Amino acid sequence: MNLPPLRSTPQDLDTPALCVDLDRMEANIDHMVAACRQQKIDWRPHSKCHKSPAIAQKLVAAGAIGVTCAKVGEAEVMAAAGVTDLLIANQIVGAQKVARLVELRRKADPIVCFDHLDQARPVGEAMHDAGLAIRALIEVDIGMQRAGTQPGEPSVQLAAALAQLPGIQFAGVMGYEGHLLRIVDPVEKEERIRTDIGTLVKTKEVVESHNIECPIVSCGGTGSYAYSASQPGITEIQAGGAIFMDDYYRNQCNVEGLDFALTLVATVVSRPAPDRAIIDSGRKTMNAELEMPRVISHNGIQVQGLSAEHGTLQLEPEAADLAIGDRLVLMPGYSDFTCVLHDRFFAFRDHSLEEIWPLEGRGRLQ
Ligand SMILES: Cc1ncc(COP(=O)(O)O)c(C=O)c1O
Repeated sequence: MNLPPLRSTPQDLDTPALCVDLDRMEANIDHMVAACRQQKIDWRPHSKCHKSPAIAQKLVAAGAIGVTCAKVGEAEVMAAAGVTDLLIANQIVGAQKVARLVELRRKADPIVCFDHLDQARPVGEAMHDAGLAIRALIEVDIGMQRAGTQPGEPSVQLAAALAQLPGIQFAGVMGYEGHLLRIVDPVEKEERIRTDIGTLVKTKEVVESHNIECPIVSCGGTGSYAYSASQPGITEIQAGGAIFMDDYYRNQCNVEGLDFALTLVATVVSRPAPDRAIIDSGRKTMNAELEMPRVISHNGIQVQGLSAEHGTLQLEPEAADLAIGDRLVLMPGYSDFTCVLHDRFFAFRDHSLEEIWPLEGRGRLQ
């Protein structure tokens, strides 16, 4: 593929093209760094949204302590780019992954998560045999009912067992308040987050009362960070999608203070009816599951539906002169599920192409 030369404008790009506004993304990064500094906690932004080592390097340069990853494969590409403080916020199971984790540990300082000794034993053994040790957190289920030990005694028992395991360096607890992001009433949202993160912090306190050090208490996503970051006892938050922001966070999670930094440039490829236009961007280009994409470059145009490779637009009379070949700028409804569909980000400053970032973690599902 021929990549566009630097200093191209968004209108010069072949489409569909996923674009980042650098000024806005950097402002979002600064906002998150400042929000964490104010609370005297660390920021370890989740990289599952951007999957790009180039962005991870930028985040660390701006003040993040490292990144959170969803998969061993994502952590591997981050480590290869020199980002070494990596929380893999997921359970790692299977001989192949354990072997890769040992290799990763030789190059980087990852943290893994366990909610059962059956995950921890093979990792500990492999690390110990290699003369290594790996930091480990317990994932605590603070109400989301996904993975995780129950708070309190079951978590304390697992912590005590992990602290004894050769090859494992027990490092603390993590929990994700993903079940609370969409609570509409801010008072209720704050209260529920305080209660559920409170169980995480209490678990850490009970673990410590058994003379087991618990330096890390990690939680927090973009949809909740405004409340989570100020909860007493936590040491870091994982909010990552904040760097791009989107309509899902704004409309459904009521996130404020962040700017929309991600756009998609599309081309009108058909005008089959006066009130209908078709663009070259469907479900394989943008995700519409959580929130529909929105046209921001023109008035009077609504995204009516997405099929695999076509986007159907409904036109008001004011947009009736839209023509085949016209370029449109859209905002993805949910950045996370949209970025993963693309090979690269085109990063612009003042409409001038400054950088191209491959999503090297894309497809690294193992
Ligand atoms: C473990 C974990 N941490 C944090 C997040 C929040 O990610 P983001 O801030 O990108 O919405 C998620 C979202 O799924 C998650 O699963």
